[in-house]
Amino acid sequence: MSYSPMSNNVMPAILLKDVSFYYRQGEPVLKIDSLEISSGRSVFLHGPSGSGKTTLLSLISGVLVPQGGEVRVLGQDLRKLSASARDTMRGRDIGYIFQSFNLIPYLSVGENIMLSCMLHEERGRRIRAATLSEEAHRIADRLGIRSKLNTSVRQLSMGQQQRVAIARAIIGSPPLVIADEPTSSLDHERRDDFLSLLTEMVAETQSTLLFVSHDLTLVRHFQESLSLPSINRCVQEEKA
Ligand SMILES: Nc1ncnc2c1ncn2[C@@H]1O[C@H](COP(=O)(O)OP(=O)(O)OP(=O)(O)O)[C@@H](O)[C@H]1O
Ligand SMILES: [Mg+2]
Repeated sequence: MSYSPMSNNVMPAILLKDVSFYYRQGEPVLKIDSLEISSGRSVFLHGPSGSGKTTLLSLISGVLVPQGGEVRVLGQDLRKLSASARDTMRGRDIGYIFQSFNLIPYLSVGENIMLSCMLHEERGRRIRAATLSEEAHRIADRLGIRSKLNTSVRQLSMGQQQRVAIARAIIGSPPLVIADEPTSSLDHERRDDFLSLLTEMVAETQSTLLFVSHDLTLVRHFQESLSLPSINRCVQEEKA
């Protein structure tokens, strides 16, 4: 089955069925009967610390593989992909924003932003400007970091690093953008600024956005919200 990011909302961006996952020699962490996220939606997934949010994102991005069940992302059954095919899919089709941003310290701001498009030709073909460098300038301009393009990311403030993380995630219009609590170390005002910028940029690329956090006050920025404890049978069994 092929998937085109421009082709509307027929196919879910994310589909999990009867998924179970445990870390080696550990207790089960996730048991999810069903989870479906439609293409193009912005979704807020919340749950307390330790409820399995990062683990779920790792399953969706193909970093981890469940012991049971089906994980289908952008039309691809991840069980059918090799580890290297999953790596390629992640770099090409998923923009990932980490809690601590994980910018590459020895690269400049511009290089950090352009890297995924340099590594993945197909992602590079989805840029809007004529060249990759022009695209990095265009996005950096929108995010107010144009003057920093040649600066080392080591010399950025936290707020500037966040903006680079957004630019890096949305360049090349990945059909899926995932964010793992990127606001947890910020005060309320900066949190809202970050969310507004992120949702605005993701709306432009028409990507599906899956944002996880324990902070329920952020829910108003999203079209849908989901509670991980309510879909994770491990938690319900623990409570029973
Ligand atoms: N690499 C690992 N090896 C073993 N157990 C792990 C590993 N990573 C996470 N866990 C366990 O899996 C459970 C879920 O962890 P996870 O990191 O997914 O939670 P989370 O909801 O993202 O928490 P937080 O909000 O604190 O980031 C926890 O009990 C944790 O101890
Ligand atoms: Mg986490």
